[in-house]
Amino acid sequence: AFPKKMVGWLNIFTNTSPFGPAAIKGIKRVQECFNAQPTDIFLATFPKAGTTWFKALIFSGMNLFNFSSHPLLAKGPHDCIPFVESIIQDETSYRDYRISCLPCCLFATHIPYSLLPASVMSSGCKIVYIFRETKDVFVSTWHYMIKVKPNEMPSFPIEDAFDLFCKGVSHYGPFWDHVLGYWKASMEILDKVLFLMYEDMKKYPIVCLTKLAKFLDKPFTSEEEREGVVQEIARLCGFESLSSLKVNQTGVMHHFNSIVVENRHFLRKGQVGDWKNNLTLEMAQQWDEITRQKFAGTSLIETLFV
Ligand code: A3P
Repeated sequence: AFPKKMVGWLNIFTNTSPFGPAAIKGIKRVQECFNAQPTDIFLATFPKAGTTWFKALIFSGMNLFNFSSHPLLAKGPHDCIPFVESIIQDETSYRDYRISCLPCCLFATHIPYSLLPASVMSSGCKIVYIFRETKDVFVSTWHYMIKVKPNEMPSFPIEDAFDLFCKGVSHYGPFWDHVLGYWKASMEILDKVLFLMYEDMKKYPIVCLTKLAKFLDKPFTSEEEREGVVQEIARLCGFESLSSLKVNQTGVMHHFNSIVVENRHFLRKGQVGDWKNNLTLEMAQQWDEITRQKFAGTSLIETLFV
C-alpha cells in the first residue's frame, strides 16, 4: 500500500498501485489491441527524459524533407509521432495512422519494457530508449506537473513530489525499474533496443544522430553528410529551434487522461543539471543513494557517477 496523502493530487494515484489510472488504462488497451509489426519503431521514454526532442529527431531522421518546409515546422513533434497508448484508444485514428505511415510506423511510448505487449518482442521491431540524468528527470516532472495542474487542485510542493518519486510512485510506475527494464533489454538484444542518453545528444549530436540513423537502418549517405543534413536535423530539433516554432508556442496536445496540455509545456529549459537549482543537498544525496542501490552492478553507475 502507498501513503494516503498521494491519493488526492490530480486523482492520478490510488493507494494500491504506483501507476496512475490513465497510464493503467493505456497500458491495458495496448496489451489487448496493439499488434506490433516488424517494421515498427518505438521511441520509449520515462516521461520528461526528452520524449519531445527525440520524437523530433527520429521523425526528421526517418523523413528527410526540405528543411524550410519540413512537416515538423507545422505539426510539432507530438503530432508527428503519436504515443501508442493514446492513439490506440481510437480505432479509426489508429488504423488511419498505420495506413498513413506505411511501410514503417513510428510510435512513442512511456510503457515499461516488462509491460509491453508480447508482439513487440516477437515481431522484432526496434526500440530506442532515452535515458536522462535521473534528478533532472524528477525536477522536469515536478515543473511539468505544476504547469498542467488544474487550478482547483491543491498545491504540490516539491518535497511531496520527491517523496512520491522516491517511493516509486509516478504516472508510469517506479522510475528506476523503468530504466533498468530497457537497459537490460538493450544489453540482451543489441540490434533491437538502442539505449541513448539525453546528455550525450546534447554534447555530441552528430555522433548520436549518426548512431541512431544506423540503428534505424537509415544511415546518412556520404552526400547527405557532405550537405550537412545531419547538422541540419540537429539544428531544426534543437531546443531554441523547437521552442521558437509557432506550433510549440500556441499548439495543444490532447492528453489521454483528458487534460489538454499546451505544447510549450514540453519545452521548459532543456538544460543538463537543472536539479542543482531545485533540490537541496540532502535531497540530492538521498536520491543518489537510491540510484546507487537500484543501479548497483550495472554500467549506469559509471555513466552517472564517474
Ligand atoms: P526540462 O524540464 O528540464 O527543461 P519530455 O519531452 O519527455 O516531456 O521531456 C521534456 C524535457 O525535455 C524538458 O526538460 C524539456 O525542456 C526538454 N526538451 C524538450 N525539447 C528539447 C530539446 N530540443 N533539446 C533539449 N531538451 C529538450
